[in-house]
Amino acid sequence: MGVNGHSENETFRARRKRMMDAIAPGATAIMPSAPVAVRSGDVEFVYRQDSDFYYLTGFAEPESVALLSPGHPDGEFVMFVRPRDKERETWTGRRAGIEGAIIEYGADKAYVIDELEKVLPRYLEKSERVHYPLGLNEKMDERVMKLIRWAQTMRPRIGMGPSAIIDPRDIIHEARLMKEPAELEAMRRAMAISADAHKRAMMKARGGMREWQIEAEVDYAFRSQGATGPSYPSIIASGPNAATLHYISNDREMRTGELLLIDAGAEYDFYAADITRTSPIGARFSGLQRSLYEVVLDAQLKAIDAIKPGAHFDDPHETALRVLVDGMRQLGILQGSAEEIIEKGAYRRYYMHRTSHWLGMDVHDVGLYRVDGSSRVLEPGMVLTVEPGLYIAPDDDEVADSLRGLGIRIEDDVLVTPDGHEVMTAATPKSIADVEALTTAQ
Ligand code: GLY
Ligand code: MN
Ligand code: MN
Repeated sequence: MGVNGHSENETFRARRKRMMDAIAPGATAIMPSAPVAVRSGDVEFVYRQDSDFYYLTGFAEPESVALLSPGHPDGEFVMFVRPRDKERETWTGRRAGIEGAIIEYGADKAYVIDELEKVLPRYLEKSERVHYPLGLNEKMDERVMKLIRWAQTMRPRIGMGPSAIIDPRDIIHEARLMKEPAELEAMRRAMAISADAHKRAMMKARGGMREWQIEAEVDYAFRSQGATGPSYPSIIASGPNAATLHYISNDREMRTGELLLIDAGAEYDFYAADITRTSPIGARFSGLQRSLYEVVLDAQLKAIDAIKPGAHFDDPHETALRVLVDGMRQLGILQGSAEEIIEKGAYRRYYMHRTSHWLGMDVHDVGLYRVDGSSRVLEPGMVLTVEPGLYIAPDDDEVADSLRGLGIRIEDDVLVTPDGHEVMTAATPKSIADVEALTTAQ
């Protein structure tokens, strides 16, 4: 979306309209922007707007508040933003200011953020319910809660004012779970860029290189194609590091023939890709690596096949788990019946995470996984990952030496469609032949 054109404003306007319909007249929703975070000294982390705030406004600047107040006579959509400031803008870049908030972002009214204390009470005193996400931005929590408390003490005198504070995220997150065409477009771009990154990594990784050299290739593919960067810290895990789930130091020297597990996905225009591939470094899969890889790939393909409207969120996990357990029994990693292994959780030694999560603006995206105590029914427009794996610790003394220190995960991003599903990340190679074509390319 980026440059805020007319059609984009329509997208955000329609989302605010749905939000206002959901909270109904008599309520005000107050959304704070993400706080600025200090990295060290006087250096800040690169600013990333809060996903919910961006979803409703398309506004990426810090120190802002968006107000939705359906039916309010002074305006239903109000923004509080940083003022234009010629001198500061010389240092840190352009600000939209209050004029921009109205003209470019469609606010009915806009004020500078310092006017929050003056203006917000006018909205609070007319609201029975206030929707505010506590805990996102502590400084803003303090300012807003002070004003809400004031409005509550005025309630007996005015005869109106907030009697309930409600978390607006339930409504926004249900909306975010169902992806709109424009959102899918941004995700497809993030995924196409990520596919290039993975192919590049498989082609470049060779024995004697350091993992960070591959991380650099991934970053290059992301940034050179317009992605913001990685949507989460890239995992470049060679050899035994692949058995450490959140390995991100990425500094080991790789050896030819070892497995390289790369979990890396780009963020493009506020939307994430999340892809994992495991490939043999500068070589073909060895016999044992291949056997293990085939088990994980089979689990992943069958899990993906379980995705369709009407199926449950847990179905791909249960499908993958069954295939992984059967595979581990055949390879002599686990003993006993599959039922017993699953019942007792013995598989967790080698498969310790779940198979799927929602994907969208956030890599572990929002939306309920369970509804009324049951695993959620899948509907067209939802996007989830499918990412089974097997991880054998380097010091696991219950398996043969040859298996120790092997880690494999294969992760794709899958859209639920009216007819079934679409693997949105299909352009990233994963068959043994396609992977080997890259790892052995001259
Ligand atoms: N990259 C984070 C995950 O796969 O969940
Ligand atoms: Mn994932
Ligand atoms: Mn991942």
